[in-house]
Amino acid sequence: MVPRPSASPGKPPAPLPATEYQRRRRALVELAGEDSILVLAAAPERIRSHDTHHPYRQDSDFLYLSGFPEPEAVLVLVPGRRHGETLLFCRERDPAREQWDGPRAGPEGAVGTYGFDDAFPIADIDEILPGLLEGRSRVYYHFGRDRDFDLKLIGWVNRVRAQVRQGKQPPHEFLELGHLLHELRLFKSPAELRQMRHAAAIAAEAQKAAMRATRPGGHEYEVEAALWAIWRRHDAVPAYSPIVGAGANACVLHHTANNGPLREGELLLCDAGAEFRGYASDITRTWPVAGRYSKEQRALYDLVLAAQAAAIAEARPGRPYSAVHEAAVRVLSEGLLDLGLLKGSLRKVLEAEAYKAFYMHKTGHWIGLDVHDVGDYRVGGESRLLEPGMVFTVEPGLYIAPDAKVPAKWRGIGIRIEDEVLVTADGHEVLTAAVPKDAAAIEAWMAG
Ligand code: GLY
Ligand code: MN
Ligand code: MN
Repeated sequence: MVPRPSASPGKPPAPLPATEYQRRRRALVELAGEDSILVLAAAPERIRSHDTHHPYRQDSDFLYLSGFPEPEAVLVLVPGRRHGETLLFCRERDPAREQWDGPRAGPEGAVGTYGFDDAFPIADIDEILPGLLEGRSRVYYHFGRDRDFDLKLIGWVNRVRAQVRQGKQPPHEFLELGHLLHELRLFKSPAELRQMRHAAAIAAEAQKAAMRATRPGGHEYEVEAALWAIWRRHDAVPAYSPIVGAGANACVLHHTANNGPLREGELLLCDAGAEFRGYASDITRTWPVAGRYSKEQRALYDLVLAAQAAAIAEARPGRPYSAVHEAAVRVLSEGLLDLGLLKGSLRKVLEAEAYKAFYMHKTGHWIGLDVHDVGDYRVGGESRLLEPGMVFTVEPGLYIAPDAKVPAKWRGIGIRIEDEVLVTADGHEVLTAAVPKDAAAIEAWMAG
């Protein structure tokens, strides 16, 4: 198969409109009910070393409901509140600080730009929040996510409790916000899918560039550099630390040092996704450093590819999510038996999970604002049934450790093939299909 000439990401989609955020907040508030209040904190800034920070990344739940990119902010949803139900606390404008750290929306800008009903300085939250909690029965909140904020919330509730004799009514039920919110996030809207397709297209372009940046005598970090060049050219950042593993490094599932040498005759596994406007992508391809698969590499590669095809074929409405993993495991186990890497009957291999010697992870995960996105995989003790709008990865692999007790020719080969799949009304769409995948297509692309 000749690869498509270009996976260029093309023009970015329109950003999510304010109405999309309003729709999400409305849906959440309706689930939460009239006598509740919902409180979400922005992600804290994190120190990287001494007094320098990691690049700031907003909390995904906060981003989903607000689109607001700044730290030191709190979103409060107060269903049915007469003077507006969507409130934001955020940093005030401060020209001296903005000179160093960049612009801030300030409460005025927050209302104007992001469509909140009202906004207040974060410095005033201790004064205002207890009054908002008062008279509400239920508080929805992410308990245990941020210890400092947990303590603040307890303090605000206690402020109301201290005034019971003055007739104040403190909330008496505390509920996990994720239970409602993550069910909403699991189903991607058309506007979200446009962002996700764009993130996937950028990641696809980066994978193709990485293939062509691979050469014997080079290093894993040079391949990583090719990824970054494409991501940043298209206003994206990595969705997670990229995994670029050559030779036996491909067998280390979370190899992120990416400083090993690229040797003739070895494979390179590249698991790398771009994040665009908060939306993740997640693609893995495994290619030969010198552009041609050996006989053994090809046999294992074709097996992983067949497992992925069988798994993707399960992606349609009404199928249990677990069927995707089961299909991959069955094909891999059959193939490992055929190649002599496992012994015994298929039934025994599946029952005893003997395939785990070479395939020890699950076949995928939901993907969205988080690369390992939120949403339950099981409902009522059963695997959840797939529905249109869900997006997940399908990423089978085989990892034959350098010290595996198998003939030497198989040792030190690690392979994973990963794509993102959207469940549609009548089947699925592979969002990451622009990257060459079958062995011949990869060889042709690398030779190009
Ligand atoms: N790169 C993380 C994953 O594939 O799940
Ligand atoms: Mn993944
Ligand atoms: Mn991945």
